[in-house]
Amino acid sequence: MQSLRRAKISAIGRYVPPKVVTNHDLAKIVETTHEWIVERTGIEERHVVEPGTPTSELAARAATELLKARGIEADEIELIIVVTVTPDMFFPATACLVQHKIQAKHAWGFDLSAACSGFLYGLTVGAQFIASGAHKKVMVIGADVMSSILNPEDRATLVLFGDAAGAILLEPAEEGEDGIIDFFHEVDGSGGESLYMPGGGSLNPSSHETVDQKMHYVHQRGQSVFKYAVRKMEELGRNMLERNSITGDDIQTFIAHQANVRIIDATADKLGLDPNKVVKNIHKYGNTTAGTIPLAICDAIEQGRLKKGDLVLFTAVGAGFTAGSVLARWAF
Ligand SMILES: CC(C)(COP(=O)(O)OP(=O)(O)OC[C@H]1O[C@@H](n2cnc3c(N)ncnc32)[C@H](O)[C@@H]1OP(=O)(O)O)[C@@H](O)C(=O)NCCC(=O)NCCS
Repeated sequence: MQSLRRAKISAIGRYVPPKVVTNHDLAKIVETTHEWIVERTGIEERHVVEPGTPTSELAARAATELLKARGIEADEIELIIVVTVTPDMFFPATACLVQHKIQAKHAWGFDLSAACSGFLYGLTVGAQFIASGAHKKVMVIGADVMSSILNPEDRATLVLFGDAAGAILLEPAEEGEDGIIDFFHEVDGSGGESLYMPGGGSLNPSSHETVDQKMHYVHQRGQSVFKYAVRKMEELGRNMLERNSITGDDIQTFIAHQANVRIIDATADKLGLDPNKVVKNIHKYGNTTAGTIPLAICDAIEQGRLKKGDLVLFTAVGAGFTAGSVLARWAF
């Protein structure tokens, strides 16, 4: 990445709604078992909001935790990027709602939509505003209320997702700090119908018919998503190692989007990464879409598995298809 000045992640915050839904709870709603879900996905439970709680609320809470952690005021933030596929509304952008909620009086902002790759895309976009010298404090928030778009009768999607938000602050790296080192992202739009929400947009505006046909819910071809994810996470991870002339041995921490424990394990194995370097928290949160990577960063820090100076490899795959990888030297 050709940067004028590198960005670094300087603080993090998260918000997870308190309500827990276990696999046993879901087995009372759809035909499934705790054992099937754990074996096929690694998920044991997930957190969900009380109905009617919007994404901006989760995002604002994660942002507030971040500000506290960094010891700064909201009006020091210059740009807010909210990454989400479950905005409060089509417009205004959720970033505007968050800006108002946290009183970030000097920030502009916008939403970014790239599903489960969104957090890495947002991180990359935010880093460019630091690299160009345009801004010194950029907040990237990954937030989704997936429970608002899940079909309660579709066991293959209902069990996968949870609600959460995570926020990072991007600031200029100090002299001699590496910060965000490299990124490599891809889109393959031919995979669009493998994972999508067909209703409510300009193609199928909301109507009684779109609701009757359950077009306002997530639709997914699970196996094609699974196969693409395993292939792409490895390919982009390997690409990142090779173009930076490093191997899996040089990586201290591997943080992948948490979609399915089998996808994470297969990727880590193919990249030759020691299992101890692999951060996994999908068992307690499920797939929180834009929230998974910041949530995993928080857990890794708390567990002492991500420390200043560590080389971190991030990978993600999501609807679109979208895919991405980021290499960073951890800075705090
Ligand atoms: C969804 C997923 C867990 C399904 O697992 P799978 O092993 O691929 O299962 P299949 O889709 O082949 O389905 C196998 C059977 O399990 C059933 N099944 C699906 N969900 C089930 C559930 N929650 N409980 C019990 N059985 C279930 C299917 O109906 C199917 O039954 P059938 O053989 O009678 O038709 C898996 O494909 C997956 O994780 N895909 C990726 C999804 C993802 O990560 N999406 C987000 C990307 S960012």
